[in-house]
Order: sequence, then C-alpha cells, then structure tokens
Amino acid sequence: MRVLLLCGLVYSFSVPLCGVDRADSRSSLEADTADYIPSLGSFFGLAGRKLDAIASEYGLYWQPHLTESRRLIRSAARSIERRGTALVLGAGKCREIPLQQLARDFDHVVLVDLDSVSMREAVELIPEFLRHKVEIRVSDITTFTRSFVKMARQIISTSRDVKDAEIRLAGLYLSLDHLVRIPDLPHADFVVSSLVLAELARYANTYVAQLFSQKFGSEISTWKNYEELRSNLFHFAIEDHARLLASVTVPTGVVYFADTTARGPNLSTVSSAEREKILDELVGRFERVGVFRKIQARPEIWNTFDNLFKKLSAIGMDNTAGETEIVYLDKVIENIENPDGLSTDWRSRVAAEAAARLLCRGRLPIDTEISAYQAILQSYQVIAPQSMESLVDHKTFLKDLNEYGLKPFGTAASWFWLEYPCSIPRKPGAFLVNSWTLRWMN
Ligand SMILES: C[S@@+](CC[C@H](N)C(=O)[O-])C[C@H]1O[C@@H](n2cnc3c(N)ncnc32)[C@H](O)[C@@H]1O
Repeated sequence: MRVLLLCGLVYSFSVPLCGVDRADSRSSLEADTADYIPSLGSFFGLAGRKLDAIASEYGLYWQPHLTESRRLIRSAARSIERRGTALVLGAGKCREIPLQQLARDFDHVVLVDLDSVSMREAVELIPEFLRHKVEIRVSDITTFTRSFVKMARQIISTSRDVKDAEIRLAGLYLSLDHLVRIPDLPHADFVVSSLVLAELARYANTYVAQLFSQKFGSEISTWKNYEELRSNLFHFAIEDHARLLASVTVPTGVVYFADTTARGPNLSTVSSAEREKILDELVGRFERVGVFRKIQARPEIWNTFDNLFKKLSAIGMDNTAGETEIVYLDKVIENIENPDGLSTDWRSRVAAEAAARLLCRGRLPIDTEISAYQAILQSYQVIAPQSMESLVDHKTFLKDLNEYGLKPFGTAASWFWLEYPCSIPRKPGAFLVNSWTLRWMN
C-alpha cells in the first residue's frame, strides 16, 4: 500500500509549506532569531563538523562498525536485480555507506541530507570518474523538521515571556500533523536509511532546546510535560520515516534499514551487585580475547597493571556503582588489613577493573582495545540489559513498515559502534546498532 500525503497548512498560520526545499533560502523569521542560533542548514553543518571531530579522535575504534555496515549494505544491494537509482537518506559523510560501490553498481545515486558540506566531502572521497553518478540533494527527509523548526523560531522570537513560549511550544509539539511538507525525493530501487531514524526527532528537538535556552536561559527539559511532548515528537518521526520509506521504494525495490537502537552503558542504572557480576563475567571475556596475555607480554604495561591492581586492592574499586558508603568502607578496611587474604572472586574482579582502566591510553594494540571494549559492552548487555538505554522503538517502526507491505528478509544483524570508547563505562559511549533488509511482500 502506498500513502499519498496531502499538502498541509502549517500550525495555525496560513503559510503554505508544500514544495521543494531550498536549502539556503532564509526567511525573515530565521533572521529574527539569527543572533541566538544558526539557520537550520548551519545547525546541521555544525552537527556534521562535531561528528567529524569525534571521528578524528576515535575513528580507529569505529572500524569494525563501519566495515560491518558497508558489508551488509553491499550484500543488500546485490539482492536487487534492477540497479537504476540508489537513494541514501540522511547520508552525511557516508562513513558507514559503501558509496564508491553504490556509484559503480547503480546508474544514479542520490544522497539526501540537510548537511551539504558532509555530503560534498563524501563525494570527493570517491574516484573522480564515478562522481558524475552521484547527486547531492540538500533536503529535509521528514515532513516536519523544517516547518517545526521554523514555527519554533517564530514562537520563541514573538513570545511575551518564558511561560507564553512554553505554552505555545507545547501546542506545536502536539500538533505535528499540521506541519506536513512532502520531501521532494525520487523513487528508488535501493533505499538506504542508515543511523538516521533515531536522529530525526533528536535534531529537531535539540534545535528547539538550544534556541529556547539561548533566549530564556532555561531548559525545555524542565517543562512539566516535557517527556510527553518529546515522546510525541519521537513517535511522529517513526511513523513519518516508515511512510517515507514506503513512498520512495519502487515495487521491486529493497530497503536497507539500520539504526542506533540503544546507547550505553549507563552506570546509574546498574546496581552494585550487578556491577560485581559484570566484573566476574568480564574476567572470562578478557581472558578469551587475550587482554591479559597482551598485558603480560609487555613489561611496562604489566608494571602499570600491577600497580593499578595493588592500588585498587588496597583502596577498593571506586564507588561509581552507588554502593552504600558503609559497605564500601568495610571492603576498603578489610583489604587494607588483609591484602593477601583477598578472595579469588575479589582478586579477579580487581584484575578486570585494572585491565579496563588500562584502555584508551595508547598502550595496548588497537584490536585488543576494541575486543576489550566489546567484551565490556557484552558483559553489561548480558548482566544489566537495562544499562543499554533504548533510543528508538524499532519494533513499532518495523510494524508500521509491515502495514505498508515492506517486510524484513534474510537475517537481522546487530553490533556495537564504539563512538566515544574512552568514556566507557563511566559515561555511555557506545551505540547498539541493529539492521534489517526489507522488500515488498505481495
Ligand atoms: C548519524 S548521521 C548518519 C551517519 C552518516 N552516514 C555518517 O557518515 O556519519 C545522521 C544524519 O542524518 C541527518 N539528518 C538528521 N535529520 C535530518 C532531516 N530532517 N533531514 C535530512 N537529514 C537529516 C544528519 O544531518 C546526519 O548527517
């Protein structure tokens, strides 16, 4: 079933929003608030530069994620008979997309994003003789982002005070159906939506949050019904994206869909008992992937590990898991009084903690570090699954697609993207990525 979207009027204002996006056109509304925050195009460009900065710091840790993603996209592309147009939604810099291969295998590749700089950089990275096959389209891939942001700017710049703005913005978050503006996108034989769905509502929401905070010096997250409003926007984005995929994929076409479905680990959700079990689990995993062997192989690393082990044994592992002070202090005293009498369990937990603290200091080979981080994430996932916080309700998304007639085939895949590994486990630094390939079922 295909959906025909109707062109709507925006919110309570009579501003028709149908038609093709012009990325660099700036309305007078945007000019009103230009002092507070960049235009939508610059906002997306800035987000692209931030991702670039993270990639230049942690890019080596991203390799397994990029390799797996490219492999799965190539394999999905191979299942398509007619290789006319490939459409890449929210393409950005195409880091995890095999752009060169798509340009070789398809007649025409269309990249779509609101961040034009990143897409241009992506095209510059492929051989010159293939570049003419790639079209860059600077466009909103949702029906609502551009209109939502425009309305939010207008509300924020014309509100009498913070309360007035809050009430009017809440109305905007709850009337998203009125913001419909159909993205101008081609039909395609292969549609790639990679790591985009979770970002759609997040970008729009972050833009409004920043604008509000700049103008009023307070945070939208403190609004009484903020969670309800935010959740309405995120649900709307899920339906919107399912509708888009269904409307751009030709009847013989294939969709590759992947998203960051969870982020973690979030230590604040982990009890001290779970933390101990995680360390128990981690010892075995570290052993299996050779972390301790690599530490032992180099005397200077072994010395650092040994020092850390002794310190942690004497003072106790730090108390980030929220252990009560009394229990924590008891352990510390017990260890100081009787360091040789540490139980085997306690010793191996300390060893796991000490090895984890050696990571991200440029001492161990990068592949050992990556395996060690994967082991940490798997341990959290097994012992404290709640520590990987869900970002997108992909079950609802797949159900929506199913209702349109797009169904997964082949096997679903799942892997970790070590986005900011060095903050793990103190702060959530990794994404769980899930992917599916879908086609029309009759
Ligand atoms: C996490 S990135 C995807 C990864 C990207 N392929 C890369 O190379 O890093 C998400 C992308 O979605 C884009 N995006 C988010 N909301 C969008 C919207 N409403 N319209 C178009 N692009 C959007 C962002 O600009 C960003 O490039």
